[in-house]
Amino acid sequence: MTEALAPGPIRTYVHRVKKDFSKPARPVSSEPAWCNSDNQKTYYEVSPIEKVLAGFARMGGLDRGIDVDMVLPYLKTATRILEAGPGYGRVLKRLLDHHLPGSIEAVERSQLLYKTLKPLQSKIKIFHSNILDFRPSQLYDAVISMWSGISDFAPSEQPQFFYALANLLAPNGYLLMDTSCAWKKPLNALSSSGQTYFIIEEGCLVKGYIPNDHEMFAYAQQAGVSLRRCFLYRTATDRERIMYVFQKLL
Ligand SMILES: C[S@@+](CC[C@H](N)C(=O)[O-])C[C@H]1O[C@@H](n2cnc3c(N)ncnc32)[C@H](O)[C@@H]1O
Repeated sequence: MTEALAPGPIRTYVHRVKKDFSKPARPVSSEPAWCNSDNQKTYYEVSPIEKVLAGFARMGGLDRGIDVDMVLPYLKTATRILEAGPGYGRVLKRLLDHHLPGSIEAVERSQLLYKTLKPLQSKIKIFHSNILDFRPSQLYDAVISMWSGISDFAPSEQPQFFYALANLLAPNGYLLMDTSCAWKKPLNALSSSGQTYFIIEEGCLVKGYIPNDHEMFAYAQQAGVSLRRCFLYRTATDRERIMYVFQKLL
């Protein structure tokens, strides 16, 4: 069920902790042996990944950017917007469709996808970098990570990814994150076990881990942002997904 979009009262989950989440966590022994860098090599740097992603977006009902539309109220007031991992440009194109007043930037790690984004670069500043190493000169009012961007990171890496995104936010800025539902196998996954899944398509292989609510709330707490809203929504092909809206408070 999709909730109304008006921002609700702020629920604060912020408790500062002493652990340093800017550094990678040590993998726990039960964790599958894969990492974000492996996914780059075996999936996002393998041709024809841009076609594979476009096909999956259509199948999943995200190709027209319904996820972006869900968080539009948080983007309309933003002066600076950043997308982490724009892929073939689906979200960026939808952001441009909305003629938002703020500037839009993006950070893409894959050299291959970065090249496919060239046509958008007259309107959008796109950096070729690992988001974990990205150090902009100015912070952002909204940081977007759609279509399960966090799932490209192994469970031990997810706190660091979340922390990196939260660290790019200006005070009061919004972190907008979409995930699959942890209790369901992703539509395009060949197999899944618990919250871990893998996808093989046209020679491209990716592994993923879907964080559940508890894990997302813990990452937020560790990164010093507050949960503002969290809601289920349905894509154009009737798939359920989850949208999280976090806010960095002063
Ligand atoms: C599932 S695709 C999502 C694409 C886009 N966000 C969308 O919603 O259509 C994930 C994207 O994140 C990029 N990515 C993964 N890890 C990254 C990292 N560490 N730094 C920057 N980009 C990364 C991938 O190369 C890919 O383009």
